[in-house]
Amino acid sequence: MYTFTDRGDRSITLRPEGTPGVTRALLENALRLPCRLYYVGPMFRYNRPQKGRYREFYQLGVESFGEASPQVDAEVIALGHEFFASLGITDCESQINSVGCRECRPAYYQKLKAYLAERQDRFCKDCRVRTEQNPLRVFDCKEASCQALLADAPRSKDNLCPACAEHFAGVQDGLKLRATPFVINDRMVRGLDYYSRTAFEYVSRSIGAQDSLGGGGRYDYMVEDFGGGPTPAIGFALGEERALLAAAATPVPERQLVFVVALSENERPAGIALLKELREQGVNARMDYDSRKVQKQFRSADTAGARFCVILGEDEVAKGTVSLKDMKSGEQKELRRGELISKLVAD
Ligand code: HAM
Repeated sequence: MYTFTDRGDRSITLRPEGTPGVTRALLENALRLPCRLYYVGPMFRYNRPQKGRYREFYQLGVESFGEASPQVDAEVIALGHEFFASLGITDCESQINSVGCRECRPAYYQKLKAYLAERQDRFCKDCRVRTEQNPLRVFDCKEASCQALLADAPRSKDNLCPACAEHFAGVQDGLKLRATPFVINDRMVRGLDYYSRTAFEYVSRSIGAQDSLGGGGRYDYMVEDFGGGPTPAIGFALGEERALLAAAATPVPERQLVFVVALSENERPAGIALLKELREQGVNARMDYDSRKVQKQFRSADTAGARFCVILGEDEVAKGTVSLKDMKSGEQKELRRGELISKLVAD
C-alpha cells in the first residue's frame, strides 16, 4: 500500500481498492438490503510500475450486497463481460474458479500444504513463505519451475463442501443461461484474501504481462467481519487504463460516413430531422450547412470521404422517400425512409 507520514505526523494510507470502503459506507449509512452500488475513482498501490501497472490508476467497480444466489454471481460476471464487449474488446476471456468457504477451506489448505511441503526444497523462496502464510497464493507464482511443480497439486474446486460445489455449478448454469462464455481456471486464486466461493477475472491477451482487465468475486464474510450481520456480497472492479489499452489494441471497423444533401433550402429542415434520426440509429452522419448549392454539398461529401449521400428534394419530402447515392459507383436509387435506416445500419 501507499503509506506515508504527513506534515502532522499522521500515518496516511491511500486507498488501494474500493471494496472495503464501500462495505464501510454500507454499514455506516445502514443501507437497506439488498443493495447494489458502483464507484469510479483513483486507487493507489505502491508496486513496481510497468505497462498496465501504475501507482495511481482508476477503477470502475460494482458491488452487490445481500443476495446469495449463484444467479447473482452469474449476473455480475455477465455484466463485466458485456461491458468489455460494448467497448469493442473482443478477446476478453471470463475466467472463473471457486475458492471454497470457511467450512471446506481448512481441510483443503491442509491437503495443499502437505503437497507443497513434500516438494518444499524445489519451490522458490517466495513460495516457501506463501506456503506458511497463505498456501493458495503459491498458484500466483510467476516462476515456470514452481508452476510445473503445481501440475498435480490439489485444486480448491475439487475440494469443495457440497454447498460450495452446488453454488459453483449454479454459477456455471447461470452463465450458460445468459450465453456468457467462460472458462474454468482452477489456478486462479486472486490477489486479495477476502474471497469466498466464486472468484473471477477478465483476461485479455492483447495488453501484455498485466493481462487482467478486471477481477472480483464473492466476499460473504466482509460485512460480518466489519461488525454487521451476515450479508452475502459479490462484486468486481476493472482497471480503466487497461480497458483503454485493450480497446486500442482491438481494431474497430470504421463507421461509414453518410452525408445528407438538401436540394434546396426548403428541404433543409427535413434534412436536419433526418440527420438526427440517422445519428440516433448509430449512423455516422453529417450535412454541409454552409453550402446552398447542391454541387458544393456533393463536393463537401467527397472531401469528407462520405460513402453515401442521402438526397432530399421536393418530391422525396412529399412522398416520404429519399434518394440514396453510392459515392463509389455513382449509382442512385429511391428508397422509403424506413428502408434507408435498415440499409445503412446493415452496411
Ligand atoms: P484487483 O484484482 O486488485 O481487485 O483489481 C481489479 C482491477 O484493477 C485489475 O484487474 C486491474 O485491471 C486493475 N488494477 C489493479 N492494480 C492496478 C495497477 N497497479 N495499475 C493499473 N490497473 C490496476 C480489486 O481491487 C477488488 N476490489 C475487486 C472487487 C470488487 N472484488 C470484489 N468487489
